[in-house]
Amino acid sequence: MSAYKIEEHTYDVVVVGAGGAGLRATLGMAEQGLKTACVTKVFPTRSHTVAAQGGIAASLSNMGPDHWQWHMYDTVKGSDWLGDTDAMEYLAREAPKAVYELEHYGVPFSRTEDGRIYQRPFGGHTTEFGEGPPVQRTCAAADRTGHAMLHTLYGQSVKQKAEFFIEYFATDLIMSEDGVCQGVLAWKLDDGTLHLFSAKMVVLATGGYGRAYFSATSAHTCTGDGNGMIARAGLPLQDMEFVQFHPTGIYGAGCLITEGARGEGGYLTNAEGERFMERYAPHYKDLAPRDYVSRCMTMEIREGRGVGDGKDHIHLHLNHLPPETLKLRLPGISESARVFAGVDVNKEPIPVLPTVHYNMGGIPTNYWGEVLNADAENPDRVAPGLMAVGEAACASVHGANRLGSNSLIDLVVFGRAAAIRAGQVVDPKAPNPVLNKASVDKALERFDNFRNFNGAVPTADLRLDMQKAMQADAAVFRTDKTLAEGCGKMQEIAGRMGDLKVTDRSLIWNSDLMETLELDNLMPCALTTITGAEARKESRGAHAHEDYPDRDDATWRKHTLAWVDGATVRLDYRPVHTDPLTPESEGGISLKKIAPAERKF
Ligand code: FUM
Repeated sequence: MSAYKIEEHTYDVVVVGAGGAGLRATLGMAEQGLKTACVTKVFPTRSHTVAAQGGIAASLSNMGPDHWQWHMYDTVKGSDWLGDTDAMEYLAREAPKAVYELEHYGVPFSRTEDGRIYQRPFGGHTTEFGEGPPVQRTCAAADRTGHAMLHTLYGQSVKQKAEFFIEYFATDLIMSEDGVCQGVLAWKLDDGTLHLFSAKMVVLATGGYGRAYFSATSAHTCTGDGNGMIARAGLPLQDMEFVQFHPTGIYGAGCLITEGARGEGGYLTNAEGERFMERYAPHYKDLAPRDYVSRCMTMEIREGRGVGDGKDHIHLHLNHLPPETLKLRLPGISESARVFAGVDVNKEPIPVLPTVHYNMGGIPTNYWGEVLNADAENPDRVAPGLMAVGEAACASVHGANRLGSNSLIDLVVFGRAAAIRAGQVVDPKAPNPVLNKASVDKALERFDNFRNFNGAVPTADLRLDMQKAMQADAAVFRTDKTLAEGCGKMQEIAGRMGDLKVTDRSLIWNSDLMETLELDNLMPCALTTITGAEARKESRGAHAHEDYPDRDDATWRKHTLAWVDGATVRLDYRPVHTDPLTPESEGGISLKKIAPAERKF
C-alpha cells in the first residue's frame, strides 16, 4: 500500500459530516476547547440539511400555549411506541434551549409581528396530549430553515477555530484490536492523497441513506456512509426497516414540498376533488402524521381515485392561500413547483406522491450520542471512542415514525449533547492512541481493491438494480411475499458487488470510484432494511405490513439489531427504554400518559 501518499493528522475529536448535526457537534466540541476537525465530502453549506424546509420543533409557546411534555407525548405517539422514552424526553425538554442558542448564534428565523420566532403547525404536533387542536410548534425561516441553520453553524464553527477538511471522503473507521475507535481514513478528492486522522473521539454525522431507493427527497450524497463504516467495523445497525415516505414529493421529480405547506393551510385532494384526509383523520385531517397520510394517499390511488392520466398521484392545493402568504412563508416550494412540476401554485394544485424521505433507523446510540455495541445480553454497551448524531444515528427518538420538524431539532439537540458528553470523557491532555496497523492496512486494502475492480458490472447498473428492488419491495405497504422477494433480490444484488467494474483508475476527482465506495455503503443499509422488515411480523409506524395489520407490543415492542457480513444479515433485538428521565413528582410526564395506545387522529 506504500504506493499511496498518506498524511497523518492528530485531533481530540474528528467529526465526519458537516450537516446540521455534524456542524452543531463540531461547534460544541470546539467551544469546549477540544481540538476538533470536521471531515466532509461536500462543502458544509451544501450538506443535505440545506434541503430541510419547513422548520424545527420546539415548544416555545410563541403562537399559543405549549409545553415540552406535550411535545414529548406527540413524539412518543408519533414513534408508535418504539422510541426510547429517555431520549424522547431529552429531545423535547432540551429543544427550546437548543433553538434559542441557534437564534443567538444568528439563525435568521421568520418573525411574528412582535418580533418572536415564527412557528407553524406540522403533522402530529398537538396540544393537551393529543386531545386538543394542532399546535404551532415548528420554528421556521420561511421554507429554507435548514439552509439558514447550516450557514450560521458553519460560520460559528469557523469562528471557534474548528478545522475543516472539505471534499475529503471518509472511507473507514480505524479500530483497535479490542474495539476502541481510534480514528478514520479519508480520501482527499481533489488531489488524490489519503489522510489518516487519529482521534480520541470520532463522531459520525453522515446522514441517511435515501439513495438506496429509486425515488427519494434525499440528495445524491445521502449514501449511508457512516452506517457502512459501522457495518464493516462489525457493529450493529438498528431499526433499519423503518423508512419514512414523505407524503408530498413532487410527482416524477421526487423533490420535497414541505409539510409546512399543509401547516399554512394547504390540503390534499383525490380525482373526485375530495379532501379525503377528512375521512381518514377527522380530527387532524391533512396534519395527521406522515406515515398515516402516506398510507391514506396510497390507498386512494390503489382504489382508483388517483389523479392524472395514470391515476397515479394526488393533488396538493395551495391555490386558495393568499399570494402574500405563499410569497412570505413558502417562497422556496413555490419555485420548486414551478421548476419541477411546471405549476404556478397561485393557480393550480401540485402533483404529489409519497416519496422516500428519512431513515428512522441507523447507528444505535444513547441520548448522549455514544454508539452502542449492543446485543441482547448487553443492550446498552457503549463502543468506546465513537459517537453518532443526526439521521445516521438511532438514539432512538423517532422509533417507527418521525414527526415532521423533529429531524432538525434532533440534529441540534444531539449534536449539542455529544459535545457536552465529549467535554466530560475526552481529556485534551491525554496522548492520542497509536493507530492499529492491522486496521489501517485493512482500510487501505479495501480502498485499493475497489480502485482496481475489473469485473463485468458497472456501478451505476448495480445501484439501479438495488434502488428498483428497494422501491418495489420495501415500500409504503409491505407483504410477506414482497419482503421475501425483496430479500432474495437484495442478496443476489449484493452478491454481485465482487464483480463491479471501475473504469477510472485515477485518484483525482474519480467519481466512478467515489460512487462505488458509496454503493458499498448503501448495500448494507439496503440489506438490513429489507431483512429487518421481512422479520418484523406486525405493523408499526412506517412499517405497514398487510399480512399483520396490527401493532403487536407483546412480541415486537423491541429494537431490531442487524449485523452484515457480505450479503448475509444476522438479526438480534434489544428492549425499548420505557422510563422517562424526570419522575412525574418532579414535573415529568406520567407513565400512564405515555402507555401504549391505539394511534387515532
Ligand atoms: O416537510 C418538511 O419540511 C420536512 C421536514 C422534516 O422532514 O422534518
